[in-house]
Amino acid sequence: MVYSQNYDVLIIGSGGAGLSLALKLANYSIRVAVLSKFALTAGSTYYAQGGISAVFGAADSIESHIKDTLDAGAGLCNLEIVTLTVTHGKTSIDWLRKQGVIFTEEQTLSGEIRLHLNKEGGHSHRRIVHTADATGKAVSLSLIERALEHPNIELFEHHNVVELITTQNTKATEKRIIGAYVLDTQKQQVKTMAARVVVLATGGASKVYLYSTNPQSATGDGIALAWRAGCRISNMEFMQFHPTCLYHPHAGSFLISEAVRGEGGKLILPDGSPFMHKVDPRAELAPRDIVARAIDLEIKKRGIDCVYLDISHKPKQFILEHFPTIYRQCLKFDIDISKQPIPVVPAAHYTCGGVLTDSYARTDIENLYAIGEVACTGLHGANRMASNSLLECLVFADRASENILLKLPDIPRPPEIRAWDESQVSDSDEEVVVAHNWSELRHFMWDYVGIVRTDKRLHRAMSRVELLKKEIAEYYYHFRVTSDLLELRNLVIVAELIIRCAQQRKESRGLHYTLDYPDADTTKPPQNTILTPDS
Ligand code: FAD
Ligand code: SIN
Repeated sequence: MVYSQNYDVLIIGSGGAGLSLALKLANYSIRVAVLSKFALTAGSTYYAQGGISAVFGAADSIESHIKDTLDAGAGLCNLEIVTLTVTHGKTSIDWLRKQGVIFTEEQTLSGEIRLHLNKEGGHSHRRIVHTADATGKAVSLSLIERALEHPNIELFEHHNVVELITTQNTKATEKRIIGAYVLDTQKQQVKTMAARVVVLATGGASKVYLYSTNPQSATGDGIALAWRAGCRISNMEFMQFHPTCLYHPHAGSFLISEAVRGEGGKLILPDGSPFMHKVDPRAELAPRDIVARAIDLEIKKRGIDCVYLDISHKPKQFILEHFPTIYRQCLKFDIDISKQPIPVVPAAHYTCGGVLTDSYARTDIENLYAIGEVACTGLHGANRMASNSLLECLVFADRASENILLKLPDIPRPPEIRAWDESQVSDSDEEVVVAHNWSELRHFMWDYVGIVRTDKRLHRAMSRVELLKKEIAEYYYHFRVTSDLLELRNLVIVAELIIRCAQQRKESRGLHYTLDYPDADTTKPPQNTILTPDS
């Protein structure tokens, strides 16, 4: 067999970034394939709550959104990228409305109907466009509906990418992307999918931590795939911890949106006393790194399990209108948020670093693009501001589509590709090893590479990563691949990249806080951390 399927563009990921790009390309008679390793709704997009930042308010301005983003990013945002992204806020929201997304509206005193805007940490104005507290679900379902009805888009659920394919192993002289080996997890078969352009839209890597707000899909696959294929990876030390994840033994990982604090929710200790005003003049609405660290400190200092977020002073009707999903979910655990405070803890939430791209989402490999949370565009710097992520997904889907449309006529069809070879492997006899290693990795990443780091903790974590890497590699080469094994193999690489970036940063900045260097280094301009394969 040479190759089983052949496309113009292969998009790996069916979240906000991947589907937006697919829809933008498909109208130009381009054959697009979109893969999701689980169901189409598997990514973080579906779970987004607060909304999408864009300048709509009368008192707001593009300059103010830019300034807030730069402030949150602690000196490491790329001004060109921030400006580009923020100026496309309104057009991105208009595009989503054309795809059928319905956002929450309000009526002004003069009877005018306009978008209701949420407020979140770091934003100096109300500027978050939303669909109550389930914005991601509204976006995801509309995009999936549009993609399903488009004749030029083929959607593949339960297709997990094993490895990217470049011309390196063919007779071609220059290195470029030509497809991917993909495990159809329902048929347990590895297919070869060839394409002239491949786009990573695989989302983030927060599942590398024991506690995370993210769904199962967030195992950093795109970052590991790009790294193995030869791309540079940047700023992985900036893993964002969301301050308020519901704390309950049976709740799994349920987020309590920052919009709750935006509407006046107060963070309090078990005795009912507030504490954020002592940490930052913006109190509950300081950027996330500051709020998450303050909560972590209180929990550790007082030996308590959690702090509390109290919105019960608001009328019940207001809570039901603005936070229906959060209200219902908490009630399942006998927490009536209209009457009592919500127990919360920080949890890993967002990967600010990732595959290094330029302003057209191009990576270091010819014809390989990266968009959405998997990419490091320079928008977020050392700390992403709330609700800037979905905006980035939309804007960079647009930028990638512009560049792909321009280049595609000159990109040749892929050469012959060798089929996946399973002749040397057998079925695993000890699946328990994979489960055990998964658990070990996520525990030590939480304990040693979490909100507060030290050189010693990072060193300990790296020693464990090295042992795990060897064990996983041996497993990968001897046994038939499974989804769990593929994710574990990627996660251990992500862990290594986070630790290596953290070890290189001899200062505290944004989301990277270390007791060994508790201040920012002011002796030189802020630097991005960039890792190059084979370095
Ligand atoms: P995702 O939506 O995560 O999609 C990733 C896709 O890649 C999935 O389809 C997955 O199946 C696929 N995939 C991954 N690996 C593979 C593989 N190996 N093979 C095949 N397919 C693969 N941001 C905001 O701006 N506003 C918010 O209000 C907001 N709220 C959030 C709330 C929660 C609970 C969470 C978890 C995140 C929130 N974020 C928010 C962040 C934001 O949702 C994400 O950053 C964004 O949705 C990422 O979109 P994406 O398209 O890059 O990836
Ligand atoms: C939230 O609603 O708090 C999440 C917003 C975000 O992660 O941008």
